[in-house]
Amino acid sequence: MDENKRGSFGSTIGFLLSAIGSAVGLGNIWGFPYKMGRCGGFTFLIVYLALAAFVGFAIMLSELAIGRSTGFGPVNAYKKVSKKFKWIGWLAIIAPFLIMTFYSVLGGYCIYYMVINVVGMFSGMPDSSSFGALLTNPWASIGCMVLFMAICYLINRGGVGGGIEKFNTIGMPALFVMLVIVIIRAWTLPNADVGLKYMFVPGWAVANGVIEKAPSIFEVISTAGGQMFFSLSIAMGIMVTYGSYMKQRDSLTSSAIRVAGFDIGVSFLAGLMIVPAAFVALGSPEAVTENSGPGLMFIVLPQMFASFGDFAPVIGVLFFLLVIFAALTSAISLMETCVSIMHDGAKCSRKKATVITFVIIGVAAVFVNLGYNGLSFIEPLGAGTSLLDFFDFVSNTIMMPIVAFLTCIFVGWCIKPKIIEEEIMASSKFRWRAAWRIMIKYIAPILIAIVFISFLAQFLGFMTI
Ligand code: PHE
Repeated sequence: MDENKRGSFGSTIGFLLSAIGSAVGLGNIWGFPYKMGRCGGFTFLIVYLALAAFVGFAIMLSELAIGRSTGFGPVNAYKKVSKKFKWIGWLAIIAPFLIMTFYSVLGGYCIYYMVINVVGMFSGMPDSSSFGALLTNPWASIGCMVLFMAICYLINRGGVGGGIEKFNTIGMPALFVMLVIVIIRAWTLPNADVGLKYMFVPGWAVANGVIEKAPSIFEVISTAGGQMFFSLSIAMGIMVTYGSYMKQRDSLTSSAIRVAGFDIGVSFLAGLMIVPAAFVALGSPEAVTENSGPGLMFIVLPQMFASFGDFAPVIGVLFFLLVIFAALTSAISLMETCVSIMHDGAKCSRKKATVITFVIIGVAAVFVNLGYNGLSFIEPLGAGTSLLDFFDFVSNTIMMPIVAFLTCIFVGWCIKPKIIEEEIMASSKFRWRAAWRIMIKYIAPILIAIVFISFLAQFLGFMTI
């Protein structure tokens, strides 16, 4: 890794916003609402929040502390703390490669939607059929994906720069405000209360026939667990890297609380926006359950925006612009990790490593794109599933829980929590030291094991995916 040349954040707020920028992205706005929609609304919400509080937060704090105490990115950081465990750092980097292959495709979709909203200012607005049209048009989706990757490339080539910091200072609060505006509109539409009941009233969906039977608890736990790791950007070394950029005076606990809190908050807002909007736009509960897959956001939002009347295209353009920025700040952190690994592993210059990484991921992303048209006969997880579902599933549900589990064992049992506690206390009081220790040693690994066993139960056919 390029340790000597690594940049540093200009200010505490710069670090915070960049870590928040990494965490908040398509996982929150695209992934969270549809996974909640598919997994029974309220039950998913509760399991998700519990996992984020007891597992996600404890791991994020540990990763930031490992990064800051060693001053290194994942591979060298784990090596420095304990030579024997260098391989955890290596394992941690498989996920960002996998994720980037489908993240860039989704980023491309957002660009496409922004463009058709711009066009909509002058002619017809997009409607829910535009998503189907995009999927069946490989040129449009591949073109937009390439554009998304090209923007990432230009930013990544510049290194950790003031640009990301500056954008986040305005972009993240603006995204928040935008979500609130769209939520208010969504809630004032007829039928929106059905979506809110789905999210907040336990057992309501089954009792009212919205879904036939409650989703299996295995499915809820494994989906919520995977989504939580993905959304918080943990268990793949990214927070270790961000921690290594932190200053000694920055409080680790309050940083972790703010990053996790903001991330969970944005997911929650996105849920409050998309779930009721889905019930409004799609009309019948059956249509909602049928569409509650990866396309949900793209199918539901155009109709939602149309209800803004004359303002529709402006809202559409602004909304997708903010989502694209949020996606870019996440993609940049993913790419940064991939590039530094390549740089380190292939022992080539950073410039060369950047080009090689982008080419490898770009080629894989073309296949993910084709998974919806030319290669749609490949259904890796059963009928109706795509290559995108597969990459999403493998990274979130297999790789991230494994690395998260190993991180807990490593911190809690191998290097012992004391080292991390000392790092945390070097900059602030650590009031819940005892609670954190219990979480990282016992509660988090047990819960992660449950997440993983739930996946296995699902995989081995105790239930369908
Ligand atoms: N957390 C980001 C999101 O929710 C995605 C991401 C995952 C970014 C892992 C970095 C690392 O969109």
